[in-house]
Parts: sequence; C-alpha cells; structure tokens
Amino acid sequence: MLSEKIQKGLTRQLNRESESSQLYLSMASWSERKGYEGVCEFLYDHSNEERIHMLKLIRYINKRGGNAILNNDRMLIPNITSLSLKELFMKLFEHEKTISKEINLLVEISLQEKDYFTYNFLQWYVKEQIEEESLIKTILDKIELIREDKGGLYLFDKDMKNFHKNFE
Ligand SMILES: [Fe+2]
Ligand SMILES: [Fe+2]
Repeated sequence: MLSEKIQKGLTRQLNRESESSQLYLSMASWSERKGYEGVCEFLYDHSNEERIHMLKLIRYINKRGGNAILNNDRMLIPNITSLSLKELFMKLFEHEKTISKEINLLVEISLQEKDYFTYNFLQWYVKEQIEEESLIKTILDKIELIREDKGGLYLFDKDMKNFHKNFE
C-alpha cells in the first residue's frame, strides 16, 4: 500500500505530466500553424512522451493499491501565440526545470516515508529529466546560434525532424 503522503505526491505528479502533454500539444499546434514542420513533429512527439509519463504513474499507483485520479482543474496553458521560437523553447525549458524540482521532492518524500519501491520507480523519472533538460538546452543553444538568420532557421527546422531522443 502507498502511504497517504506518497499517494498525494504521485497523484500530483501524474497531473503535472498530463499538463506537460497538453502544453506541448498546444506548442506543437502553434509551430505547425507557423510552418515549422520539423519543430512541430518534435513537439507532437514530446507531447506523446509526456502522456506516457502520465500513464506510467497511473499504472504504478493503481498497482500499489492506490487510486490514481486525474484532476486537471489547475491546468493553465499559457498564451503562446505571441511568442518567438526562442521564447517558446525557453518556456519549455523553464517548465522542465520545474518538473525536475518536483521529481526531486518526490524522491525525497519516498525516502522520508521509507517507500523504497517508489524510490526505485522514481529513478526512471530522474533519468528522464536529466535527458530532457540537456536536450532542450541543446536546442536553445542552436536557436541562440542562428539568431535571426532565416537560412539557419530553415536548416534548424529541418534538423528538428530528426532530432529525437534516444529511448531506453
Ligand atoms: Fe515528463
Ligand atoms: Fe518532460
């Protein structure tokens, strides 16, 4: 059984993953409308991944005798229509850093509660956050390099089509 504290923390996290999925979906749609063919593929993929993160948490909570509840009440999708490509990825980066902090907090709670199953389960998320943060940082560096160069932007977008993460 999961302790109340752990159940609460994991439920919060599954809802955060759901929010991430929605956020990236709206970013994907934005970039598709703007004509960024590669960026939009990347973001649609990323949105799917976040849904998988959410699913993993739902299945884990239920498997441990908890009750996984989706609650998107507090979901706030920021208005991204006026953002530049750089600002969009900066927002994404900030979002991932917040998620990393929350995962770290969850790991800490799992240790306090002496729930080593959950501690072990969360290690996958820790690894995932390290990869995601570094991936988004690399993308931001590329955007920084090209600045206003239209040709560079075109190539960057093309690159993004093949810029997938290495899955486990
Ligand atoms: Fe995630
Ligand atoms: Fe993520």
